[in-house]
Amino acid sequence: MEILIHDSPEAGAKVAARVVRKIIQTKVNPVLGLATGGTPLRMYKELIKMNHAGELSLQNCTTFNLDEYGGLPPEDKRSYHYYMMSNLFDKIDINKDNVHLPQGNANDLREACREYEKQIKDAGGIDLQVLGIGANGHIGFNEPTGSFASRTWVKILSEQTIQDNSIYFDKLEEVPRHVVTMGIATIMESRHCMLLANGAKKADAIRRMIEGPVSASCPASILQMHQRVTIVLDDEASYLLTFKDHYKWVEKNKLDWQLY
Ligand code: F6R
Repeated sequence: MEILIHDSPEAGAKVAARVVRKIIQTKVNPVLGLATGGTPLRMYKELIKMNHAGELSLQNCTTFNLDEYGGLPPEDKRSYHYYMMSNLFDKIDINKDNVHLPQGNANDLREACREYEKQIKDAGGIDLQVLGIGANGHIGFNEPTGSFASRTWVKILSEQTIQDNSIYFDKLEEVPRHVVTMGIATIMESRHCMLLANGAKKADAIRRMIEGPVSASCPASILQMHQRVTIVLDDEASYLLTFKDHYKWVEKNKLDWQLY
């Protein structure tokens, strides 16, 4: 795992955006996996800035989002479709025919999940998958104890995640219980994963992901088995790491071509 620790979420977002830019600039038809939630918002702002400054074009990009709430139509302001359009896609030069999110309100959810997996495969697989992490260690909406072999499917949110995400809804009862999410195996097939986390609330999940045993009780810990993972943290999210000084030492001694 490549672990990058920065003083602030703002500094981390700039590095994360440069990782995305590097992938986009080295591939002919880059395929990005994207996340929603509070964490990637700063990175999306950086990408928008780069796009408007003429430093980066996303015209050739195809994207696949990790997840979507069950039952919410794309135009619902609380859906991840709406989030992606308003926070990124409406503000950059991407071809919207090439953006994909799971359909949370499909008539046949199971068929829609199979189709989503096929679309990822047909696009040639994901070059860079952006991830956040839940306080309980979830990635995508793969909650603790879910199978490491899972693929895009309908899942039920844990009570903790419902509580955490209720800030985006008027009432706790309005948070959907069902979601459609890429599975852990889907995520693990990406050629490069980049996980972002900020704040002390994530510190325990970060410790378990990086330094704990690989266990379905912390789904993100499976990333220890991935060939290419970049973790971008602020100081607070990294404060429980035993080997924090080592990660900083490695970062300080990188060769030029290893920097972003
Ligand atoms: C969102 C997703 C989730 C979030 C996670 C953290 O697409 O897949 O795993 O990344 O719940 O959410 P925030 O960033 O809001 O703390």
